[in-house]
Amino acid sequence: MKFGTRPVRSIVADPNQRHVFIVDQTMLPFALEMRTLTIWQDAAEAIRAMRVRGAPLIGVTAAYGIAMAMADDSTDEALKLAHVGLLTTRPTAVNLAWALNRMVNFLSAIEPPERADAAWAEATRIEKEDVSTNQRIGQHGLTLLQSLHRKHQRPINILTHCNAGRMACVEWGTATSPIYQAHQAGIPIHVWVDETRPRNQGLITQWELEDAGVPHTYITDNAGGHLMQHRSVDIVLVGADRITAAGDVANKIGTYLKALAATDNHIPFYVAAPMSTIDFSIEDGLVDIEIEQRGAAEVRLIRGLDRKRMICDLVLLDDDVAVNNPGFDITPARLITGMVTEHGVLKPNKLRQIPR
Ligand code: MRU
Repeated sequence: MKFGTRPVRSIVADPNQRHVFIVDQTMLPFALEMRTLTIWQDAAEAIRAMRVRGAPLIGVTAAYGIAMAMADDSTDEALKLAHVGLLTTRPTAVNLAWALNRMVNFLSAIEPPERADAAWAEATRIEKEDVSTNQRIGQHGLTLLQSLHRKHQRPINILTHCNAGRMACVEWGTATSPIYQAHQAGIPIHVWVDETRPRNQGLITQWELEDAGVPHTYITDNAGGHLMQHRSVDIVLVGADRITAAGDVANKIGTYLKALAATDNHIPFYVAAPMSTIDFSIEDGLVDIEIEQRGAAEVRLIRGLDRKRMICDLVLLDDDVAVNNPGFDITPARLITGMVTEHGVLKPNKLRQIPR
């Protein structure tokens, strides 16, 4: 995709320098600022500060973080230090732990002198798999949109929340992959893009869809229920940050309310996510998933452009006003019509049947 005329990819690794270039997503969609990550602490900072964000991209960045650590010092102690340092950056998206465990398990079987090259190669495999996995998610999700189009014989209205798009992954996105593939296949679609306060990741989705030429409309977070009552939404398609074995889904705060409204209006509610987002070690999302509690500044301030098109933060609330800012919520499996994974579209209670 492009920012103006500049080609953009969420993450680009340089195998010669063993550096990683990322888009600083805290500036999107207002400015395109690239950052270079050279040591694992840079990767940790980028994840913690949400310069990289979105469950799959967090995992890929963390994998390269381990690879950068191994390029400096490939001892067991250095591996452990980087593992713990990266793991504690954000709590909810399980792709982080998944990618780190995969790197550590892989490297533990390799002698330290060989680890630097092996770690880079494994991180690169994780990055490439993200692309192919999300492409397959898109193929399976495409069938849902095709059948809705066959049924209604008019453009299909999709509602999405947050940014489960290209910038949350390496390419394609999760929830957006079926959207891009439907658009490329000539199926007429229109996307309702939730703003997604407080960080307004919907702005990133809007930018992505505009870049791809997908018809869309930006809406406030509170508009979805109304649109569903008036039959202006045919399907809700969202991403996920962690899914339990029983099919409960942690996703960006506000997702649960969309699922409630969709259920009340008999509108299909689908979650698109790779296997790396499923945490088979837990069952009950409300009990077992740690919800990230984020800082008050995200609610007190809002970022945008001033009249001179300069980035600025506007103060909405003074510091003495109490603020609560949970980053995610849990949508119970009973409100979810299906999961779009790289292995196909499944009922939430059938996840355990996926071959692992
Ligand atoms: O806090 P973020 O921006 O890292 O949250 C992640 C998300 O963008 C969403 O929750 C998304 O739907 C899942 S990631 C594909």
